[in-house]
Amino acid sequence: MITIVGSGKVGGDAALFSALRRLDDEILLLDIAEGLPQGEAMDTSHALAELGIDVSVRGSNDYAEMAGSRIVVIVAGAGRKPGMTRMDLLRINSKVVGSVTAEAKRHAPDAILVPVTNPLDPMVHVAHRESGLERGRVVGMGGMLDLSRFREFIHAATGHSRDSIRALVIGEHGENMLPLVRHSSVSGIPLADVLPREKIAEIVESTRKVAAKVISLKGATVHAPGNAIAAILESIVRDRRQLVPVSTPLDGEYGHSGIALGVPAVVGRRGVERIVELDLDAGERAVMDAAAASVRSAIGGI
Ligand code: LAC
Repeated sequence: MITIVGSGKVGGDAALFSALRRLDDEILLLDIAEGLPQGEAMDTSHALAELGIDVSVRGSNDYAEMAGSRIVVIVAGAGRKPGMTRMDLLRINSKVVGSVTAEAKRHAPDAILVPVTNPLDPMVHVAHRESGLERGRVVGMGGMLDLSRFREFIHAATGHSRDSIRALVIGEHGENMLPLVRHSSVSGIPLADVLPREKIAEIVESTRKVAAKVISLKGATVHAPGNAIAAILESIVRDRRQLVPVSTPLDGEYGHSGIALGVPAVVGRRGVERIVELDLDAGERAVMDAAAASVRSAIGGI
């Protein structure tokens, strides 16, 4: 079973995308709000009925029902309002993630944790600390969402099929995210050989800023995060060992320890199977170090 704690827009979408990908026979939506997970589960199940997809999606307010889950996704917490940064949610959401993690530890101690709540990287640190799990079993979803946006901007700029575009975004799921231009391509052709330098710089900046733009227009980001969560879950449940960006606790990788940060990793049935250390150039390392400093400062404030 896959449990998703937090049945708001993103949690609900994550359940739907996970069911559409048939990632498990059973998906449980949990929330403290009476009726919300139950209504979300019913609405999703009605869609699955027409599609003929026999994935059971249930809603509950009882955390004990997560028992036996192989994955617990943590989406619960406050979302950004227009004009807010993800870091503005640090204090309130660290308490939420801490308590949800304690429930997961109690009811589903063997589950892999997939934090999504913002500010993502400090929340991965909280989940790791509170759960006591080995670090590879805490797999934060941030970079997968950022690379979705990076890919879309490359698609829009080049006109090439989205399916031809490969991209990587690591660092902080926030102001200091690092779209890796040198490791992004169109059908294996390096991005620098496809687009002019100025356009690439514009795309990198747009990738950093676009979430706030979506929030200002529609009030929240929903489908891209929901899908990115399902993409991470798929690599885990199908043991696909995809090389994808995830936020996970570091122990010396990229020169940092004691924080969680977005890094390229091989993700399979055990969670993070291996962190991949790229040979960053000076500019990339400067952003990565700024990201680490931002997350370390946030963790100090929890
Ligand atoms: C975003 C939120 C989920 O980037 O951090 O849309």
